[in-house]
Amino acid sequence: MHRSGPIPFDDVVETALYGEGGFYASGRGAGRSRDFLTSPEVGPLFGAVLGRALDSWWDEIGSPDPFLVVEVGAGVGTLCRDIVASRPRCTSALRYLLVERSDALRDQHAAHVPVEPAAFVLGPTFDDGVDEDGLRHAPGRGPLFASLPDLPAVAIRGVILANELLDNMAFRLVERTPEGWAEVRAGATADGPLAEVLVPADPALAQEADRLVGPDVDVSARIPLQHAAGEWLGRARRALEGGRIVAIDYATPTDELARRPSHEWVRTYRGGGRGGRPLEALGSQDITCEVCPDQLARIASPTQDRSQADFLRAHGVEALVDQARADWAAGAATGSLDGLKAQSRVGEANALLDPAGLGGFRVLEWLRN
Ligand SMILES: C[S@@+](CC[C@H](N)C(=O)[O-])C[C@H]1O[C@@H](n2cnc3c(N)ncnc32)[C@H](O)[C@@H]1O
Repeated sequence: MHRSGPIPFDDVVETALYGEGGFYASGRGAGRSRDFLTSPEVGPLFGAVLGRALDSWWDEIGSPDPFLVVEVGAGVGTLCRDIVASRPRCTSALRYLLVERSDALRDQHAAHVPVEPAAFVLGPTFDDGVDEDGLRHAPGRGPLFASLPDLPAVAIRGVILANELLDNMAFRLVERTPEGWAEVRAGATADGPLAEVLVPADPALAQEADRLVGPDVDVSARIPLQHAAGEWLGRARRALEGGRIVAIDYATPTDELARRPSHEWVRTYRGGGRGGRPLEALGSQDITCEVCPDQLARIASPTQDRSQADFLRAHGVEALVDQARADWAAGAATGSLDGLKAQSRVGEANALLDPAGLGGFRVLEWLRN
């Protein structure tokens, strides 16, 4: 970072995660035996339930072919692979775009699914005939996959899906002081590493903080200002012609965060465990912030907001687990590999539904008819 003066927190996060040598830019991220575990990385059950959800959302918009699914923050492509492996009914209509801003992670998509050029996947596709526009969609060609660094510049009729994307978007940080709101920035120290520096918040940030939590909040309370997440939601809504945006993440209202110390909700991860303070070892650890649904609601109120456990149950996780239990019992009798797989599925369900863990995440949905 070559800037003089204390640096806003969002610039630090942006550089530490996505700049040259940044955490995601250098290919780090989610996975067993990697830096942290997300629901898709727990095992294939999450993708199997998402496959069922896609079928119900496909039905709701009249089973279009092509059916476009845009997964943003796709990491290495695990969720996409597992959704398709579960063979949802929409498979033959499915055009799946994996959107991932890290080049290093995007490079791994082709190892998970057969990636085609985006123009071919987005169509209209070139087939055995033409319609009045000179082009024709070829139905029943799915699943087709493409990999992109950003949302495509096309109208999307289908689903925009984001698992643990918004918590990784850069955010500003403000703190209440006896004199009013201060902004938490990062400044260089004499011996090298960055340290927090409080500067008076500019009036726009102070007004925003007052609107979010009121002026009577305790001195030393902190809150994040999640502008990048809101901007992303705005872009996604403008791109969506019909269907829904589904964002899954750890989420807490801003006023609740104000009552908790910031080290609880600005967290760092590396090597399968928690990392150090956010300004330490920039680039070698993930920096993440609990998502504030009330801040997203300033762009648009979600049509639905429920826990991951409720969402997975609504889309049939229990039927998949019951099936696994039956297979496990049968497999235990014969010692088959299927029995072991079934046993692991039961363990995955426990992790995905745990109300104190992944099951307590929020699933926010914005519908557009
Ligand atoms: C916590 S990881 C989640 C990965 C995967 N969805 C999962 O659940 O395992 C967040 C991912 O979002 C990516 N990302 C962040 N901002 C993005 C953006 N604006 N567009 C696309 N990808 C983004 C990061 O590079 C990272 O791979």
